[in-house]
Amino acid sequence: MTDAVLPRAAAPRLRVLGIETSCDETGLAVYDSRDGLLGQALHSQIALHRDYGGVVPELASRDHIARVLPLLDDVLDQARLELRDLDAVAYTRGPGLAGALLVGAGVAAALAMSAGLPLLGVHHLEGHLLSPLLAQPGLDFPFVALLVSGGHTMLLQANALGCYELLGETVDDAAGEAFDKSAKLLGLGYPGGPELARLAAGGHAGAFDLPRPKLHSEDLDFSFAGLKTAVLTRVRQLGEDAPAQARADLAAATQEAITEVLAAKAAAALRRSGMRTLVVAGGVGANLRLREKLDAACAALGARVHYPPLQWCTDNGPMIAYAACRRLQAGLARASRDYAFDIQPRWDLAELSAADGAS
Ligand code: KG4
Ligand code: ZN
Repeated sequence: MTDAVLPRAAAPRLRVLGIETSCDETGLAVYDSRDGLLGQALHSQIALHRDYGGVVPELASRDHIARVLPLLDDVLDQARLELRDLDAVAYTRGPGLAGALLVGAGVAAALAMSAGLPLLGVHHLEGHLLSPLLAQPGLDFPFVALLVSGGHTMLLQANALGCYELLGETVDDAAGEAFDKSAKLLGLGYPGGPELARLAAGGHAGAFDLPRPKLHSEDLDFSFAGLKTAVLTRVRQLGEDAPAQARADLAAATQEAITEVLAAKAAAALRRSGMRTLVVAGGVGANLRLREKLDAACAALGARVHYPPLQWCTDNGPMIAYAACRRLQAGLARASRDYAFDIQPRWDLAELSAADGAS
């Protein structure tokens, strides 16, 4: 489907199965280093967790177990391949929910063993980081990456595959968390980001003056906990019977505050690093107001900004299959055949090069 950016012209062809189960999406895909994406399938657990207002880890694990094999059949059908035709099986090793990660790791190990294929664990955030490259032929390192998901908010200088320098990160809540928590305060459903964005579409951002934490700080770090408290105060002032317009205005003001800080810091990271390419990844990258602001900030700097297609902003199988393929082709990871899988629920992206460096 997509033309992959091949790290080396002479690299051997690889077809990799990727399995993503780090949180509330079961995602599988087969990626071919020559022909691109051959199949992908996703099951979102949003409906399962909605009544609880957030992800229930035990329910997530059980649902991954129920979904993963039917999704595997689906992607192999799309790819017109048998498991034994593949060259490796990759799974999300972390970071994420321990039980959910174990499902993907265990299933990947069993599949790899049954077909005699090598097995490889992938860093979830490297998957997100590389997803714009999967979609866009010609785009490659180096670049500045803005990684904005439910659990992470960071700016990275991506010099090469596996070589990621942290420029700044959140000191408290992640941007996605700020969206989700503010949405909850506004009485919206889960996940809050898209719901808040929908409500904000009919609101006037200027109607409420919300703080922009760390907007003018010297560093490239973020802080969103204070914003959530400010939203709580406004919600209390509006009271139980807040008019619909006031709620929409508050949603718009919240979205404006979060996206303004993200765009300003991303622009500062480009200026500081001297780079002219910004890559945006993670669920919050789907936010259209954020995209507008980043487009404007990058145009002003003469920089280019790249987003993954909306379907690959949130968790998905293709990003894991692609990241594994790139690592294997670059000789940056060794796939194992002893099938002793492990997971890493907490895993710093900056540790990645040291942990899985070229051998
Ligand atoms: O990357 P992701 O799918 O999962 C991880 O956290 O790894 O990101 C999910 C986050 C959630 O906080 C969700 O509310 C947010 O991305 N999100 C959005 C939008 N779509 C998803 N936030 C703002 N606007 C959106 N359109
Ligand atoms: Zn994610």
